[in-house]
Amino acid sequence: MDDRKYIDEAVNSFRVLLEEQLRRQDEMTKGEACGAEEGHAGKTGKPGPVVIGIAPGDGIGTVIMAEAEKVLRKLLADELDSGKAELRHIGGLTLENRLAKGAAVPKDVLDEIKKCDVLLKGPTTTPKGGSLESANVTLRRELDLFANIRPVQVPEEDINWMFFRENTEGEYVLGSRGIEIPGKLSMDFKVTTDAGTRRIARAAFDYAKGSGKTKVAIVTKANIMKKTDGNFSRICHEVAEDYPGIEADDWYIDIMTANLLNPAVRKDFQVFLMPNLYGDILTDEAAEIQGGVGTAGSANTGERYAMFEAVHGSAPRMVEEGLAEYANPASILKACEMMLRHTGFTDKADALAKALHTCLEKEKAVVVTGTVDGAKAADFGDYVLSKL
Ligand code: IPM
Ligand code: MG
Repeated sequence: MDDRKYIDEAVNSFRVLLEEQLRRQDEMTKGEACGAEEGHAGKTGKPGPVVIGIAPGDGIGTVIMAEAEKVLRKLLADELDSGKAELRHIGGLTLENRLAKGAAVPKDVLDEIKKCDVLLKGPTTTPKGGSLESANVTLRRELDLFANIRPVQVPEEDINWMFFRENTEGEYVLGSRGIEIPGKLSMDFKVTTDAGTRRIARAAFDYAKGSGKTKVAIVTKANIMKKTDGNFSRICHEVAEDYPGIEADDWYIDIMTANLLNPAVRKDFQVFLMPNLYGDILTDEAAEIQGGVGTAGSANTGERYAMFEAVHGSAPRMVEEGLAEYANPASILKACEMMLRHTGFTDKADALAKALHTCLEKEKAVVVTGTVDGAKAADFGDYVLSKL
């Protein structure tokens, strides 16, 4: 194909992308005007059990999810017995099945997930290149999980961070739909919508207000990405005007990654509000400061659905090196705590938080390091069980 043809094709597909994204933004705006859909799950006190979908994923996912299920079965023993809660296995999110079906999340699997109130999901592998989209990205989009919420704490340094990462747009929304003139150039797209930014900004400021925080750091690279990040920052400041007493500060992502490594300033940050990719990167850094990506949990929430997971991926390298059973389940156990809180099982969430604090911060009798020198995931799971 000559270059002219590539350009014509790209221009045509760009029009389609623009129309699609504009439609998405308009639908979000419409949704807002009608009022958010009624919340889901235990938090609404709906009749019937709170259905918790359990999708192990692949790689180290199956290992750490086994520990999560063990802990949930003990914590929720009475609720499972009396029919107030149900743990429902969702198969089919393995890489083999996704490749076989040629779908990031096969339709039947998505339908099953939508029947649950919340989903606890193990990490899923995304092949590099190729056309298979990440299962995470697909689920976040299909379930409209626009807020990725990631807490990070380092008590001995007085660090108590809460990250609000926009979860459905930015570099991710069209990440598998870039254009290419083979051997010559490639171009990906980044999208910021007005409605998409407003809703994540409101989530961050609502959280700040509700938890007595006084500062929100807006993290972008608006000096370079003038349209997408420039508008993200502007809209966040507009939203901030509705929250008197909460200071909204602009930071660039590069200096923010440096600041998180600076003990003299990092404890002063409270709430972070960021577009998708910066949030992805900064939360891995923050998790590492907390004790490793294996220690950090994450909530993906929208108006209707919610999905809880570890911040890290499926660690294929650990699997290849035969280290899967040494993976740290603390990350997914933290996600379980967030999930229990979200579904209204507050006392169970508190009990798990306390047990995790004892195991990870106070006693540290069983320590997982991700290597053969450390404990196995199952030993740590048993350790947590012994504290419940
Ligand atoms: C995360 C992960 C995902 C992401 C991957 C697995 C697609 O890194 O949840 O942070 O990039 O969002
Ligand atoms: Mg990540």
